[in-house]
Amino acid sequence: RRLVIAVDGPAAAGKGTLARRLAQALDLPYLDTGLLYRATGRRMIDAGLDPQHAPAETFAASVGLEDLSRTDLRVPEVDRAASLVAAQPAVRRVLVDVQRRFAGEHGAVLDGRDIGTVIFPDATVKLFITASARTRAERRWEQLASDPHAPDRAEQIARVEQEIVARDAADSSRSTAPLCMADDAVRIETDTLDADEVLAEALRIVAR
Ligand code: CDP
Repeated sequence: RRLVIAVDGPAAAGKGTLARRLAQALDLPYLDTGLLYRATGRRMIDAGLDPQHAPAETFAASVGLEDLSRTDLRVPEVDRAASLVAAQPAVRRVLVDVQRRFAGEHGAVLDGRDIGTVIFPDATVKLFITASARTRAERRWEQLASDPHAPDRAEQIARVEQEIVARDAADSSRSTAPLCMADDAVRIETDTLDADEVLAEALRIVAR
């Protein structure tokens, strides 16, 4: 039986870490779908275009899996560009097929915002990963920080938190595929769980 596991949730909740480890544990391919929106935004920035206005869907249509290994997709300007292109229905329509095809005959683990609601409404298992905005900002800061002992650490984290909250608001309020939990998803609150504990909880849910 084809196993499709949907991992959705807000920015920097730890979806990527969980989805990657889950895929490894279950021997399934893994797709970080945020990278499709990031690569679209990246291509537009590189072309000198405004991600909000130019025909973003033509850029989305030219994004392939080979774009997803680019090392310049996780920078703040691409965070914003990705969220802007992701709000455009034509962009989402173009990217549906890539995501559905990825699961192929054998299944996959996919992480994103609308995997359980739009891309795979019949997914075998749907997980919704959350944490408070503060926890998520601290984790994202640790991922990106060049100096863990920076004297303005608190200010930096507060700034990351503002950006995350703004992006969550944009992702949740857009009219097409807004970020929301599927009715049949299982929520995992990760504020007090480390990566191993989140994986263990997810594997328990998959096994039942
Ligand atoms: O890792 P992080 O949570 O910061 O971002 P991401 O998962 O790479 O997603 C970047 C942006 O792409 C999000 O803010 C969403 O606007 C958009 N996105 C989406 O709309 N649908 C998805 N399935 C995945 C990402």
